[in-house]
Amino acid sequence: MVKLRRIGHATFETPDLEKAIAYHTQINGLAVAEREKNRAFLASKVGQLMVQLEQGDEAACTKLSFEVAPNSDFDALAKELAKDGVKSELRNDSVPGIGKVLAFKDNKGTTIELFSEWSYLGRHLQVLGAGPLKIGHVAFAVQSPQETAEFYSRVMGFRVSDWIGDFFVFMRCNTDHHSVNFIRGKNTKMHHIAFELKDFSHLQDSCEILGQQQIPIIWGPLRHGPGHNIATYHRDHDDHVVEFFCEMDQMFDEELGYFEPRPWHHDQPQRPKVWTPGKTTVWGPPPTEDFHRYRD
Ligand SMILES: [Fe+2]
Repeated sequence: MVKLRRIGHATFETPDLEKAIAYHTQINGLAVAEREKNRAFLASKVGQLMVQLEQGDEAACTKLSFEVAPNSDFDALAKELAKDGVKSELRNDSVPGIGKVLAFKDNKGTTIELFSEWSYLGRHLQVLGAGPLKIGHVAFAVQSPQETAEFYSRVMGFRVSDWIGDFFVFMRCNTDHHSVNFIRGKNTKMHHIAFELKDFSHLQDSCEILGQQQIPIIWGPLRHGPGHNIATYHRDHDDHVVEFFCEMDQMFDEELGYFEPRPWHHDQPQRPKVWTPGKTTVWGPPPTEDFHRYRD
């Protein structure tokens, strides 16, 4: 098993690179750190790489990167993966700020890249748009969330934070309640990508930006049960669902096994559990029909 420290950046293929850059710079609020003919690298205002865009035939999230321990021995990591039956290869994709990566495919075909060396791509970058702090999590629709959860825990050391019924699992690799989540769907594809904002007032600012740009909020604002984050959802240039959120549950101590107590928890203490479908919102409206299009 390899141990992941945090989610790094997500790579998207897009049929319209210009439109994708316009969305991520003007709505999402990232800065173009580097631009090549068919690729663009977008960083948060802090200067961390968050999104890699590649010209492609289809709109899809194709890769996720995760940071591993500093000075990790990549040969040892490759052996560790091989023990779990996973073939990996050392690559250098010349991604700005990132050294070599150890790449492999997860059980649903998404490329996972492990990195330990990275540098900031700027500091105090001026951005339009919401300006998130980091990628919080990426959710995928998969045929069997049980199988994917098994792979992510056995191979990548993720822990289960919550289930909704038997169809939606939330998994953590650090104190954040979830960095990945998997919902049952007919087709394997990204369900949503979530960007963390500073607080509720930052979330309100992001709603104003969406309002100005006439981009409908397709769910929220609401406070979720699982993770207890306050969230809104909208669709981006390529019809992907994008979540903005704040106040995600934190598990600071794995041995204690509960999430840092918060006034909005109904359980005392709040431990990982199975939530009842239909009873997973603390407050806020139900999703619109548009939110559920991943079922198609
Ligand atoms: Fe989410």
